[in-house]
Amino acid sequence: MVGRFAQLRAAGVGFVVDLAASPAPVVVHWGRDLGELDESGLAALALVGEPAVLNNSVDVPRRCSVWPSEFEGWAGTPALSGHRDGVATTPRPRLVEHSLADNRLELVLDDAITGLRITLNYEMDDSGVLSARAALAASKPYEVAGVSTLLPLPSRAVEVLDFTGKWCRERSPQRTRLGHGAHVRESRRGKPGQDSAFLMTVGVPGYGFGGGEVWAVHVAWSGDQRYVAEQLPETPPVLGGGELLRAGEVRLGPGERYDTPILLFAWSDEGLDGLAARWHALQRKKVRPPRPLVLNTWEAVYFNHDLDRLLALADAAAKVGVERVVLDDGWFRGRRDDTAGLGDWQVDLTVWPHGLTPFVDHVKGLGMQFGLWFEPEMVNLDSDLAREHPDWILGVPGEPGPPSRNQYVVDLSNPDAWAYLLTSIDDLVSEYGIDYIKWDHNRDLHEAVTHAGRPSVHNQTLALYRLIDELKRRHPDLEIESCASGGGRVDLGILARTDRVWASDCNDPVERQSIQRWTAQLLPPELIGSHVGPERSHTTGRRTDVSFRLATALFGHAGIEQDLTACSPEEIDRLTAWAALHKEFRPLLHSGRVVRADLPDDAGLFFHGVISNEQGLFCLARISTSPAGQSWRVRLPGLSRGRDYRLRIRGDLGLPSMRQVRAPEWVTAALDGWVRVPGAALVDAGVAMPTLDPGQALLLEVIVDRA
Ligand code: DGJ
Repeated sequence: MVGRFAQLRAAGVGFVVDLAASPAPVVVHWGRDLGELDESGLAALALVGEPAVLNNSVDVPRRCSVWPSEFEGWAGTPALSGHRDGVATTPRPRLVEHSLADNRLELVLDDAITGLRITLNYEMDDSGVLSARAALAASKPYEVAGVSTLLPLPSRAVEVLDFTGKWCRERSPQRTRLGHGAHVRESRRGKPGQDSAFLMTVGVPGYGFGGGEVWAVHVAWSGDQRYVAEQLPETPPVLGGGELLRAGEVRLGPGERYDTPILLFAWSDEGLDGLAARWHALQRKKVRPPRPLVLNTWEAVYFNHDLDRLLALADAAAKVGVERVVLDDGWFRGRRDDTAGLGDWQVDLTVWPHGLTPFVDHVKGLGMQFGLWFEPEMVNLDSDLAREHPDWILGVPGEPGPPSRNQYVVDLSNPDAWAYLLTSIDDLVSEYGIDYIKWDHNRDLHEAVTHAGRPSVHNQTLALYRLIDELKRRHPDLEIESCASGGGRVDLGILARTDRVWASDCNDPVERQSIQRWTAQLLPPELIGSHVGPERSHTTGRRTDVSFRLATALFGHAGIEQDLTACSPEEIDRLTAWAALHKEFRPLLHSGRVVRADLPDDAGLFFHGVISNEQGLFCLARISTSPAGQSWRVRLPGLSRGRDYRLRIRGDLGLPSMRQVRAPEWVTAALDGWVRVPGAALVDAGVAMPTLDPGQALLLEVIVDRA
């Protein structure tokens, strides 16, 4: 039964709404679970949380309702902006219905001014993640300019962490102090982009991986989007966001509705690792089979598709222990380089005279799965698709603006274009028994308007989702990877219907250590494609030792992105040992808790790992040299101080080079076998680390000592 208050609680998190607040329900609390409070306790919570009425202010307390508006004296970002022919700009929604069951709260608000019926849904997952979404149903014409889903934070939360980046440098963290005003991050790329805010976290200053109180939001949407953290002098900070809509993009007629994307909110008082654990638990509800070790052909052969060469590559892959081979770009009609062919999704018989069958049969005959690259949303003007259907291309007709990687965008909201793509992909999946699609997206959407001139990213995104959903319906075992020039489309909207992301086109382990460390702030390792590249990185030109490359690629959904037929026997042996090590630790890496140590030299030295109740695999990675001579004692995160452990160094991938006269004594012992250490020594005192050369990594295995 719902009284005056609605309470959602799970995994130590609480969310309380005062349903009786006027003019709209108010969020009284989001953060630590306050325990089992009865109605009088909740009333007291609301009472003591009510702020003063200030001078020079509206004569009612300003609080953050579920639908902040100027009607309640809210001067910050409103929940809704929009109009009907220039009027109906002052929404005044009032609660008309509510229901609460199974940790799900539904609020229905009616707004006589806009003519909208607004249904808000909040759901708290077992992991403590709160999902929020709104549906706007119109009874009169209404143009929606924007909807923001916002939750209040306590005033102590003022340190913002979000992300930026570029091609090959995705998810670079940036921190800023929230003052008065809005910290806003927007994407107008038709996808989150390489510089995506990705996840906006606000916390009590000083939070790190291992500690601190933090609140975070993720916009689970693959089109244009907006994140906001905002604080005004008279109101508490708020955190949220939504879809970024272009003028005229959503115009509702009577009987039509607009659904916001799902926004996901998480809180933790265990720092960024605690927050990551909640996101990972949420995504791990979708049960996935063991993630097969991948070989992707891109950096091995690029567009030079030659059957004999590819057969030899598949043979070498099978010997190393690869379980899935993905044929990348270059297999379809006219695609001899990146200037032509996109859109013509039929096998190029000039290069593959017998179709893909000889290759697919060979790969499957070796016991591996077969994957194929597509970029369905894109088209080259030099393609039959563009020649025959110029009206299927998004953009100003006849003046499509500059190409990007020589390509334009197919209007997926055009039913004929959508059906063509579905049929083309479906036919190939059926014909070749394709297990996996690498679904690429290599340009931003600029001037993404239909030929009638209507902005189309919203419809494009929904049509993309429908396309993937229909393919998955027809092929339930088909797996799909979200790639966008690397990690340009990494969000939980696309991941609700795909199975992993390609984190970055950069395989250089120096860069990858950081890209993976921060991608893992939202995604569990098994969803993060991480491949071993060749000695000289194709995207940075840097040369790195094989052991560092292998140790870096180990901690994700691992794969290989290099020409194995050009590898020396020693390199093949090393890769084979790595494949075996990955398979040994895969059950842990793909289910355990991700932990990262907070170190004083947080740019030059990383210490991270994955742990379960029984074991852990840690990696000390020296990214660059440091002015400090010592690497000092590192406290192993996530272990229990009350238990005893054994640890040893795993040299399977080769040992790192070090820069010291003699490594700490324990290193010699741990290279020889297990070293027993009480948990408290590992957790509270820490382990003196050797000083590795830059671009080197040390792998440490830890198990519970049951002796
Ligand atoms: C960009 C991707 O990120 C690469 O991995 C590769 O698939 C190329 N596209 C192919 O064109």
